[in-house]
Amino acid sequence: MSLHRLLGFHVDLPDPDALVAFYDELGLTGDAAAGFTGSDGGAAVTLGDGPFRRLSTVRVGCDGTDDLDAAAERLQHGGASVERTDTSVTVEDPVTGVAFSVETAEPMARQPAPTLVVPNSPGAVARPTRRAPAVFGSARPPRRLGHLVIGSPDVERTVGLLVDGIGFKVSDSIPGIMSFLRCSTDHHNVAVVDSPVPLLQHYSFECDDIDHLGHTATALYRADPARHAWGLGRHFAGSNFYWYLTDPSGAFLELYSDLDQILDDDEWERVGRTEFTVEHIANAWGPNLPLEFIVPHDLEALQHGWEARR
Ligand SMILES: [Fe+2]
Repeated sequence: MSLHRLLGFHVDLPDPDALVAFYDELGLTGDAAAGFTGSDGGAAVTLGDGPFRRLSTVRVGCDGTDDLDAAAERLQHGGASVERTDTSVTVEDPVTGVAFSVETAEPMARQPAPTLVVPNSPGAVARPTRRAPAVFGSARPPRRLGHLVIGSPDVERTVGLLVDGIGFKVSDSIPGIMSFLRCSTDHHNVAVVDSPVPLLQHYSFECDDIDHLGHTATALYRADPARHAWGLGRHFAGSNFYWYLTDPSGAFLELYSDLDQILDDDEWERVGRTEFTVEHIANAWGPNLPLEFIVPHDLEALQHGWEARR
């Protein structure tokens, strides 16, 4: 795979300091300019000032300059104008206004594996006469930024640019509504969902397991219950456990664990990839999809922001 990982994204927003304080509370490392990461480093969220919440840049890493040449050729063949440097190719999606940048970068360092805790289950007592260690756990920083979901008024066009131009692979899709795309072994690093306005719909940090996810989400929730947005549940696409909270910018922060990993593209095409129907968009189990995930609660502010920009 010439693309090998997500490098990060940039958001401009009216009050970056409030989001910085939220990331500090979550335990992320870094700052607005250099980017916030989880405890394993890797992909980063950078922040800047802007009149409304706007995703401006998404960066992905590739192996070498041959990959940049190939991406530039595909994009230009599709009619896009690209900006090329020695180390990057950048193209703007005309639908969402997001600048997608492919950059030569080192692969992400291997993540250290957590200690596996085998649970008690019917007929198999893994923890005789002992409490589960997880009950003594507490919130701790998530491991890394895994993916983001971009709201687009024209899903097919945005996905076309990402797949046919930049080189993302399609993992799953709900035709016309949502596509899950990967630039690494993660089931998805970028997803595109139908939206009345371009927006950063959510972004997601990986946790070790469901207890890490639960402790960390619970700490944010108890500090301010109004942050709770959706969860706990398990998605169809990617199979991951999830819990969403609203961040101070109005975007959703997802904490996840147990995401599908696609190590063999051909095998996934044979046995994994699925065209889901609309009832699968939400989850395999968990609370119903909140309305705010379809119509953003700050839709008017976003519409005004985009109108002022045109
Ligand atoms: Fe997600």
